[in-house]
Amino acid sequence: MQPIEQELPSHFADRLGIEYALSVDQQHKKENGQFFTPVEIAAFMASYSTFAGSTVRILDPGCGTAVLSCALIESLIRSDENLKAIELVAYETDIELIPILEQSFSYLKNWGLAKDIKITIKLLKDDFILHNAACFRESDDLFSTPIEPFDIIISNPPYFKLSIDDIRVTVAKVVVNGHPNIYAIFMALSAKLLKENGELIFITPRSYAAGGYFKVFREYFFNLIDLDKAHLFVSRKDTFNRDKVLQETVIIKCTKRSRPEPTVIISSSRGLNDLSNPLIKSFPKKDIIDLNSNEKILYLPTNDNEEAVLELFEAWTGNLTKYHIKISTGPIVAFRARDYLRENFENGTIQLAPLFWLHNVKQMILEWPIIKPGKEQYINIEQKSMPLLLPNRNYILLRRFSSKDDKNRLIAAPYFCNFSQSDFIGVENKVNYIYRPKGHLERNEVVGLCAVLNSSLFDVYFRIFNGNVNVSATELREMSLPPLDTIQEIGDRIILSNDFSVEHTNRVVNEYFEPVYTS
Ligand SMILES: C[S@@+](CC[C@H](N)C(=O)[O-])C[C@H]1O[C@@H](n2cnc3c(N)ncnc32)[C@H](O)[C@@H]1O
Repeated sequence: MQPIEQELPSHFADRLGIEYALSVDQQHKKENGQFFTPVEIAAFMASYSTFAGSTVRILDPGCGTAVLSCALIESLIRSDENLKAIELVAYETDIELIPILEQSFSYLKNWGLAKDIKITIKLLKDDFILHNAACFRESDDLFSTPIEPFDIIISNPPYFKLSIDDIRVTVAKVVVNGHPNIYAIFMALSAKLLKENGELIFITPRSYAAGGYFKVFREYFFNLIDLDKAHLFVSRKDTFNRDKVLQETVIIKCTKRSRPEPTVIISSSRGLNDLSNPLIKSFPKKDIIDLNSNEKILYLPTNDNEEAVLELFEAWTGNLTKYHIKISTGPIVAFRARDYLRENFENGTIQLAPLFWLHNVKQMILEWPIIKPGKEQYINIEQKSMPLLLPNRNYILLRRFSSKDDKNRLIAAPYFCNFSQSDFIGVENKVNYIYRPKGHLERNEVVGLCAVLNSSLFDVYFRIFNGNVNVSATELREMSLPPLDTIQEIGDRIILSNDFSVEHTNRVVNEYFEPVYTS
């Protein structure tokens, strides 16, 4: 393939990438985590750099056909006439791609020369992680890095899960918890390889923003660099649609600086078509990422996201009442029922029912007993306490209050009647319970509804209209729900998988309601 007259290097790289992608199969792309950035996105990412200087040192790890570095160099040359020399270091491991990449680089160099700018390119055909493994050694000394640090690092890194025995996981263990995705290791290394005031511009899945698996990564990454900007693509399908990547994608721009800036700019677009006209908002940094928090979640709120969630909910016509399901508040007000409450199980003359408090209700799991002073585990079954008791059947228990630190506003746990031998159970007043008054809730309904309520999708929706931490039964009664058969199907899938973890159940729920963003 030859460049067209006057063609920009990034456009040539883009065409080379499209042609190469057509020549390799899906398996090859998957194994290499290879999805090339469309030139429009490359230009958008390049525009994030505010670098100025006469020489610049750039890194493009996992460079593909170098569309990103080409777009960046074009942008830098356009915006800074003092720029005279550019050093580019690029990593690429796909041997078949190398000749094509060399074509791209050769065109870029000549294009630069024609503008009197010297572009020096070092192409490393090495694994980016292994080549820089020394960066992850204990010493936090920048000079322990094997290569000279960079002014700008721009990347669309490979995305795929690495197995725990992968050597790259071993070398990167300081940023790894469980099965890591290779892209996060690329990000962590890049953060390390930046000069002071250096800029990092990455496009990746947004999965690192939350969740336990990425917690150590977030800690490492955001302690090294300061987030300036994030751009979200609201439509999963549009970003890389020519490669059918159904990922929630985010572009971030960070700067290595010792004093964090107080604000973050968050923008969003549906996809490529409206990229030139993104929705832009500025947020206090502390609302976006709280480095003092335990989880260090990166919140990326956008109006489009909320809009999409609202649209989805509006399209649903079902709700609890229509499904003949009720929600009520636990009848046991502890201080009024003290006479019946028991701390220990006493076998013999008295019969006891388990008593569930707010602290027993966790997402997707009812943790009982939990020993806590003043929070008895049982309620005595006797004539006078009967009005306070519920028949031992299947329920969903839902907290009526969340705390500000809770990840979710809705915290629901399944209760199955075989949990206890007792004919009755006790539910304390800070807990709501969901049940079917005529008939009973099937297991798949309990699990499905529980998963849905705990899902991030519902959390987003809930936060749109609920500015406080209360979860009222009235709101729940009226809240739109997916079709009952979908809820049951979700329940069946979770039961079959036997994985009731919030991560898994959330994933299952989200799969049903694509393309709405829910993380
Ligand atoms: C998602 S693609 C992006 C390519 C290019 N940066 C772009 O934006 O179009 C990631 C690239 O990284 C390469 N790659 C995969 N693993 C790598 C590794 N360990 N070290 C260096 N490059 C790698 C792949 O072959 C692929 O070309």
